[in-house]
Amino acid sequence: MPKYHNYSKALHHKIFSVISRAADELEVEAYVIGGFVRDHILERGEPKDIDIVAVGSGIELARKVSDLLPHKPKVQVFQNFGTAMLRANDMEIEFVGARKESYRKDSRKPIVENGTLEDDQNRRDFTINALALKLNENGFGDLLDPFNGYQDLQDKVIRTPLDPDITYSDDPLRMYRAIRFASQLNFMIEAESLSAIKRNNKRIKIISKERIMDELHKILLSDQPSKGLALLFKTGLLAKILPELTALQGIDEVEGQTHKDNFWHTLEVVDNISRNTDDLWLRWAALLHDIGKAPTKKFHKKIGWTFHGHEFVGAKMVFKLFKRLRLPLNEKMKFVQKMVLMSSRPIAVADDHVTDSAVRRLIFDAGDHIEDLMTLCEADITTKNPKRFRKYHNNFQLVRQKMEEVEERDHVRNFQPPVSGEEIMSTFGITPSREVGQIKDAIKEAILEGDIPNEHDAARDFMLKMGEKLGLSVAEKS
Ligand code: CTP
Repeated sequence: MPKYHNYSKALHHKIFSVISRAADELEVEAYVIGGFVRDHILERGEPKDIDIVAVGSGIELARKVSDLLPHKPKVQVFQNFGTAMLRANDMEIEFVGARKESYRKDSRKPIVENGTLEDDQNRRDFTINALALKLNENGFGDLLDPFNGYQDLQDKVIRTPLDPDITYSDDPLRMYRAIRFASQLNFMIEAESLSAIKRNNKRIKIISKERIMDELHKILLSDQPSKGLALLFKTGLLAKILPELTALQGIDEVEGQTHKDNFWHTLEVVDNISRNTDDLWLRWAALLHDIGKAPTKKFHKKIGWTFHGHEFVGAKMVFKLFKRLRLPLNEKMKFVQKMVLMSSRPIAVADDHVTDSAVRRLIFDAGDHIEDLMTLCEADITTKNPKRFRKYHNNFQLVRQKMEEVEERDHVRNFQPPVSGEEIMSTFGITPSREVGQIKDAIKEAILEGDIPNEHDAARDFMLKMGEKLGLSVAEKS
């Protein structure tokens, strides 16, 4: 039998006393349920959303609450779902009537009937999300916990209230949610639940890509994303959305030569980068930085395993993958592509005894994303050999130092040609043409190579020489 708990202290916000009064006036039971209660017990900070269940009409309760609030917030009613929403003090408060749900095989849309609080708790995804606090005056703050969710919170366990086969098959998105919560909260998924996810993974196909991506993003943004990603892999869910990634799993051996398992390596890289950035798209870049390795893998008798051009192939794969998963095809995607494309560049520079011109080119090509690229490359160091680990980090330290020196001197990070196309045209009295582009490119190359400084006068002299070579003569000044 669950222990008795009272959480009236969690309900200090004024909105709860208003809901309490509204519910008592309407003579319906009302409860706050789900994430609010879970996160309060876990001390996860103030929530933005509050879910309220009324044993009766959620819509009526929402209207009554709005009436009782001084600013009479607008009540948004979703008649089809029998829910209503209002905003108060920056929080979204969602009201629903307690319901009993049954599902059909081919759809996420349930058949809904009115029900008791317990019916409503039954239809929820996890015991830790089925915790409810009473809001009526009589029993204000009492915890209603028919499935021992409180204990599961203490034990850090994800468990379904019903037979997991039913809970997951009813709403397959919950398979992702289970893994997302495990990753976000650092919880374990109970064994029965985990095998039910494996058994039901095919059902994920009825869920929209957008909703799956919302969950995947929460996994990627957790402290240690590998926890969720490994669970997605083991349950067979990852292969269904990111086959490019699971294709990296495995180690081949030919003539005694092996290569590393690029899937588990990638997961380590994602964890590493997550210690240094909360940027979702940089974490995506870490996740995808090696995807070109599966299609480019080759064994050569003399040199062993190679992945020639994997960065270029990988960058091209990013576009297709983003398109398929309905991820944005805007500058976020371009950023991920650029990171994948350039992911080996700093390594090459470090190996090259760090020449100025290689550093200038790196800064020029990466532009404003140079810091992110360095963060990615440093995260990519997963060697377990401490000597090598130190050596690689030191090399990158050297690259960073050199970058600072070079950038201070040459300012190539946001390169603007020191001689404009206009100036080239007016100097030689020509109109827009191939020659203008040729001269501009040659100036850029000369600066990057270190042949001339990134300054106007030097660039102008260089331009005059180039013009001569191309047979152009300086126009008379009018
Ligand atoms: N819920 C469910 N099945 C789902 C989605 C939600 O049973 N597929 C229930 C759970 O009881 C959950 C509540 O609806 O607690 C609210 O859902 P949501 O706002 O999506 O999640 P939270 O639990 O509030 O967590 P978070 O805010 O972290 O998403």
